[in-house]
Amino acid sequence: MSEDLPEILAQAWRLLVRGGVDRRSPLHTPAVCSVDGDGLPQARVMVLRQADPVAATLRFHTDARSPKVAQLDGRPVSVLAYHAQENIQLRLAGTARIGRDDAVVDGIWATSTTFARRCYLAQAAPGTPLPGPASGLPAWIEGQQPTETQVAPARGNFAVLWVDVTAMDWLHLANSGHRRAVFRSADGWAGEWRVP
Ligand SMILES: Cc1cc2nc3c(=O)[nH]c(=O)nc-3n(C[C@H](O)[C@H](O)[C@H](O)COP(=O)(O)O)c2cc1C
Repeated sequence: MSEDLPEILAQAWRLLVRGGVDRRSPLHTPAVCSVDGDGLPQARVMVLRQADPVAATLRFHTDARSPKVAQLDGRPVSVLAYHAQENIQLRLAGTARIGRDDAVVDGIWATSTTFARRCYLAQAAPGTPLPGPASGLPAWIEGQQPTETQVAPARGNFAVLWVDVTAMDWLHLANSGHRRAVFRSADGWAGEWRVP
């Protein structure tokens, strides 16, 4: 394990980039944490779709009607992941941004599989009470791979969550001695060592 702060930061971003493209990476499914209207913390697992080290952003996809969208838009967000093979915990802090109606979101929507886009056909918002166990999808699409035409009306329910990362808390566990460093955009990502 490197003890060079810039190399540690670069390696952390390499792991995140991999997490965005490799379904088997433990960083593919971090916990994304918000604060709800009652001031209570809310954590949920989300699929990391892309990590961009240059822009220091993470991208997630979600239902525009889900409670997390209102909780997160323009607000602080925390993203937590643990890479068990590397013994590295990453705690990222930043600001959330929701994209809905722009051309970038249109492009992301168009490149998702119709199977992935099917989720957004749910008739009511995620979290809406149901009279019994059900997917919330219309019966005609249940268990089916939809066509482009069939998923088109769901576009309005699709949103992209961007996290503009402003700080990263890196923790490496090792029998020989744990190591922890904190990196912040405010000081140009220079990083500093912390007691683990
Ligand atoms: C492995 C896994 C991956 C998930 N990926 C996503 C995702 O990419 N986007 C999403 O909105 N919800 C995802 N979920 C569901 C969320 O954890 C959550 O239950 C749902 O979005 C409702 O969250 P909310 O009520 O806080 O808005 C995933 C759940 C699991 C277990």
